[in-house]
Amino acid sequence: MSEQKAVEADEVSEAQIAVHWKEEEFIYPSPRFVSQALMTDPGIYERFAIENFPECFKEYADLLSWYKYWHTTFDPSDAPCWKWFVGGRINACYNCVDRHLDQYKNKAAIIFVPEPEDEDHQILTFQELYVRVNEFAALLRDFAGLKAGDRVTLQMPMTPELPITMLACARLGVIHSEVFGGFSGRSCGERIADLGSRVLITIDGYYRSGSLLDHKKKADEAVAVAKDEGQVVDKVLVWRRHPGQYASQTPMVDGRDHFVNDLLADYAGKRVDPVPLPAEDPLFIMYTSGTTGRPKGCQHSIGGYLSYVAGTSKFVQDIHPTDVYWCLADIGWITGHSYIVYGPLVLAASSVMYEGVPTYPDAGRVWRIAERLDVNIFHTAPTTIRMLRKAGPDEPAKYNFHFKHMTTVGEPIEPEVWRWYYDVVGKGEAAIVDTFWQTENGGFLCSTLPALQPMKPGSTGPALPGIHPVIYDEDGNEIAPGANAAGNICIRAPWPGSFQTIWGDRARYVETYYAKYCQDKDSTDWRDWPYLTGDGAMEAEDGYFRILGRIDDVINVAGHRLGTKELESASLTVEEVAEAAVVPVADEIKGRVPDVYVSLKPGHDASDEIAAKVKAAIDDAIGKIARPKNVYIVPDMPKTRSGKIMRRVLAAISNTMEIGDLTTLANPDVVEEIRIVVQGVEKLATRKGPADIARFGDE
Ligand code: PRX
Repeated sequence: MSEQKAVEADEVSEAQIAVHWKEEEFIYPSPRFVSQALMTDPGIYERFAIENFPECFKEYADLLSWYKYWHTTFDPSDAPCWKWFVGGRINACYNCVDRHLDQYKNKAAIIFVPEPEDEDHQILTFQELYVRVNEFAALLRDFAGLKAGDRVTLQMPMTPELPITMLACARLGVIHSEVFGGFSGRSCGERIADLGSRVLITIDGYYRSGSLLDHKKKADEAVAVAKDEGQVVDKVLVWRRHPGQYASQTPMVDGRDHFVNDLLADYAGKRVDPVPLPAEDPLFIMYTSGTTGRPKGCQHSIGGYLSYVAGTSKFVQDIHPTDVYWCLADIGWITGHSYIVYGPLVLAASSVMYEGVPTYPDAGRVWRIAERLDVNIFHTAPTTIRMLRKAGPDEPAKYNFHFKHMTTVGEPIEPEVWRWYYDVVGKGEAAIVDTFWQTENGGFLCSTLPALQPMKPGSTGPALPGIHPVIYDEDGNEIAPGANAAGNICIRAPWPGSFQTIWGDRARYVETYYAKYCQDKDSTDWRDWPYLTGDGAMEAEDGYFRILGRIDDVINVAGHRLGTKELESASLTVEEVAEAAVVPVADEIKGRVPDVYVSLKPGHDASDEIAAKVKAAIDDAIGKIARPKNVYIVPDMPKTRSGKIMRRVLAAISNTMEIGDLTTLANPDVVEEIRIVVQGVEKLATRKGPADIARFGDE
């Protein structure tokens, strides 16, 4: 590169990510879907226009039952810690359970599908859920001594005891904080310490890939770690996967550990009145990782959060009480809180929960469940869709199920994968919503309203009613729709589902999410506080957003910033490719260049031809600027338990850096296999490597 060019490249604004993909065609929802949809009135966008902020959100809050109506819809006096529905009194458990009893007591609330296929489903009707939640709430109050405002940490997998526990806490006003079951005991302990919980609720074991895992041992580690950090846990409440048996090897600690199923005998038939709580009290805390530093406890309110998940479940998920709705995700993730538990139940829907691995014991499992339960709304993440596509691209056609609606969430979905979801899983009949949002947001930010707008593969769609995104460059200039340039996507005005603060760290909340574009830190006018999502995005002329991924998932090649997702998407257009991951490699001349890792669909062997096809596909879709240094064909990707590809591990291998901690990997053995593909049998010396690469893809 000439010196002049290098100078020009330096002057390219940080937010100017070169985007090279072509816009996809619109696909329209079927008339059959539209004829039954809950929102067919385009006037909703006018009602939720920015001029009608904040009163428009009354429409969502009115989906709930209130003990006392609020006097102030929105209170900005403690900006940017916004308060919603101030003066209102409400109970989340009452809204999800009690209020449905008159009409729906005999209807399924939760349908639990165990992983072992020979174990019966458990169906909890709303009446049964009511009974179990009451009994456990009585135990929490009278045995554990918990009351409104106390915090409790849960580390529970996907069994019905998890929503029962959450709802029992909500009934009392106890703030629950669920830690994903697949996380280590150590990370659970750190979260206990951060939150100051003195009660931990867990289960002895659960099934993954055919084994009954010992889960209770994580509780022992968590308690020890919390103690080291100064927080004593005095009660560990242990549910049992199979009542009467004990799935763990660890001893029950005398005076500290208690079997819930045994204690419950004393609470049989007990009823606990739901506590009418201030709308702005916290409902739960959900931890999420930042690029740096310790996890952030996102605090969600009762009234605002529940209103927002009610509205979005109704109009985006389009859930009617008569639907069989299955969100194949983990409740230990915000998606599960909002769209397995609170959103569907607040609408009296039947929510399916599945315990285990989607491809266990074979690639047809998910579709067998869908057929057996006659699921008609399906919701999952691109990572699962890719996994299912890889394991059994033709499986869905073998089963008799028909989705009317499908959701994708959590990552950008490659148009190739989107099309498989639409054609093969949805059988060309289902409307798809690609929902963009974050742990911090409570509910969806962007998506098509499924009966009102066409779908565009790979684009999340326009902003939802009442959400007002804006894309800023690094200097805070707005990037216009259709400018074909990307920047930082921010949300101009608050919405009720947004988190209230980071637990115990208001300064970090302000710094991370609001400081970048705030003009006046003393202002109590919401217009001065755009919310920074931390994602790169671009807006097409038609108002559809395409999310490029985290701002730090971007590779700067000779001054051109390339979204890794763009390259991955291009690689996936190659027929043999099942999964693709792109990481930056340090390059003397260009700064960073991409390395591409791909795994292949069953029945294909690695070959130079396939690698050449991947390079050609990237050349073709993006241009030579994005040409990868290497294309590695690997047996599998290193993945977390939740299925996310750990790009950090691949980046370390590509750059012969220290690979670091592998404890969160589901398949640590594959790392050495990949290392050999890349570096050869002889182990190369590792080095520390540049900071941006070391941080790359951090979870
Ligand atoms: O980068 C965006 C990506 O996931 C991030 C949020 O992750 P998390 O807090 O774990 O919540 C995931 C479930 C809501 C975002 O910053 N992301 C989420 N949804 C999409 C997405 N990227 C592209 N398209 C989406 N639909």
